[in-house]
Amino acid sequence: MTGPDSDGDATLAYHARSKHHLDRYAAGPETLDWDAQPNPYRDFAGAARVPLAFGALQVSTRYGQLHAPDSIPPATLSHKALSAVLEMAFGLSAWKEYGPDRWALRCNPSSGNLHPTEAYVLARGLTDLPDGLYHYVSRDHMLEQRRVPTEPSDAPPQRPQLWIGLSSIYWREAWKYGERGFRYCQLDIGHAVAALRYAAATLGWRATLVEGLDREALAKLLGLDRPEDFSGVEQEEPDLLIRIAPDADASPPPAWPDASQWHGRANLLDPHPMYRWPAIDVIATATRGDATIAAPAMHAEFPSIVHPSSLQASRLILARRSAQRFTAKSSMKRGDFYRMLDCLLPRDALPWDVCRHAPHLHPVFFVHRVEGIEPGLYALVRSSAADCALRDALRSDFLWQRPEHAPAHLPFYQLSAQDCRRVARDVSCHQAIAGESCFSLSMLGEFQPMVSERPWMYRHLHWEAGMLGHVLYLEAEAAGLRGTGIGCFFDDAVHALLGIVDDRFQAIYHFTLGQPLADPRIATEPGYPGRDESA
Ligand SMILES: Cc1cc2nc3c(=O)[nH]c(=O)nc-3n(C[C@H](O)[C@H](O)[C@H](O)COP(=O)(O)O)c2cc1C
Repeated sequence: MTGPDSDGDATLAYHARSKHHLDRYAAGPETLDWDAQPNPYRDFAGAARVPLAFGALQVSTRYGQLHAPDSIPPATLSHKALSAVLEMAFGLSAWKEYGPDRWALRCNPSSGNLHPTEAYVLARGLTDLPDGLYHYVSRDHMLEQRRVPTEPSDAPPQRPQLWIGLSSIYWREAWKYGERGFRYCQLDIGHAVAALRYAAATLGWRATLVEGLDREALAKLLGLDRPEDFSGVEQEEPDLLIRIAPDADASPPPAWPDASQWHGRANLLDPHPMYRWPAIDVIATATRGDATIAAPAMHAEFPSIVHPSSLQASRLILARRSAQRFTAKSSMKRGDFYRMLDCLLPRDALPWDVCRHAPHLHPVFFVHRVEGIEPGLYALVRSSAADCALRDALRSDFLWQRPEHAPAHLPFYQLSAQDCRRVARDVSCHQAIAGESCFSLSMLGEFQPMVSERPWMYRHLHWEAGMLGHVLYLEAEAAGLRGTGIGCFFDDAVHALLGIVDDRFQAIYHFTLGQPLADPRIATEPGYPGRDESA
């Protein structure tokens, strides 16, 4: 990549070149050998393995309770409780089999099921788990002990402390999606953060982004800056660190002594990479900056959600799936639709309490089949600060009318009345799932000048989009429906449809939701033989 001389310019240039167009997809591999897919599991050979328990299905919290956290007595931070959180956030949810093919699904979704996200655990003072840094292996639901502090560095904690760090292996997505793969890795991080937040909430815990950590500090904490452990293999990009605690604990991450013992060497995931995508290295560097910023902003005060679902939260989380097809005729209830929208509004509740940043994404809905809501285009304006700019950026003939029965606090507007099944499908890379569902949506991100001035916000925009998608995935399950993330869309065709002519707003992620059609040819098996799913 040549030309851009600032990180902001590089970020804009990457975004432009990674767009899909109606007549041309972003640069990617010309052929794919599915048998040569990069290994979706990272291992650290030589590290001690610590088995985890299967306890998720013993957690009896109801899904509706997650919105009323005071109703969930916080569990003690222990090996057992940590096991349950990892199982619900990043563990395997099922094995699928079709003909000769067999593949695992996880609680966190991933573009192309390629799973670029790795999870690390930093623990201090937990019962039954020695202090140190661990890497989570979802395939076996166990931890690998990467770092063992040989002596206490600072004052021993008064109580157990836990952090979970996330990193990305870009090659896993770039292998299939080429240059656009960086975007998918960031969206996957957003899903993983929300998956972790919901999992922690089932145990009455908080999960909070540790702010003000720069890349070097995070790489050091997660052991990703050790060339001797990663020589000749795919590198990991540190993304963020989340503090898990029963209350609003703000302890800093541990400062273990350099004398700690390190164990394990990372495995090689793809012995014969066929392509290189230097544009991904450029965008990764350009968006590093202060990816975990301080300067929190208060969320707007929306009324609390009273969620009616009495389903067991852990069972619902383990059952989350992407729909492959929808019944093209069923509609959904208006009350379920409005509750889903309500859950997308930023408030001091899960998952938005992970990081109290101002919202920068505003979904435009293609409503196809929601009882009592006229088919057409609608907008949910998630922050009043963006209201004027959004109205100004979208088509001047849009209606901006509040639907008659919409809850009073919901900033939800009808833009046009139309059958948008076909256009929704066309802008989502012609994928039928976008038109056959009850509704689909395009998440518009505030883009310029924010991204030029603070290029690391490019990552944040995708994280926020992934979190929005994750809320919809779980809300769909709670309503007896199913969702699917859509990373493949024709960026500028979406913009043209909505009248967007500059880059003040850009489409970041699509999603679709409806009544799923199961494929009876695909067999399903439990995620782990050791988990009793009837419990
Ligand atoms: C960021 C992201 C983008 C995705 N894009 C698409 C898409 O364009 N089309 C599609 O059919 N599924 C898409 N999916 C769904 C994935 O294929 C799905 O999550 C993956 O196969 C794992 O299946 P599961 O969600 O049932 O666990 C996407 C998922 C994510 C998280």
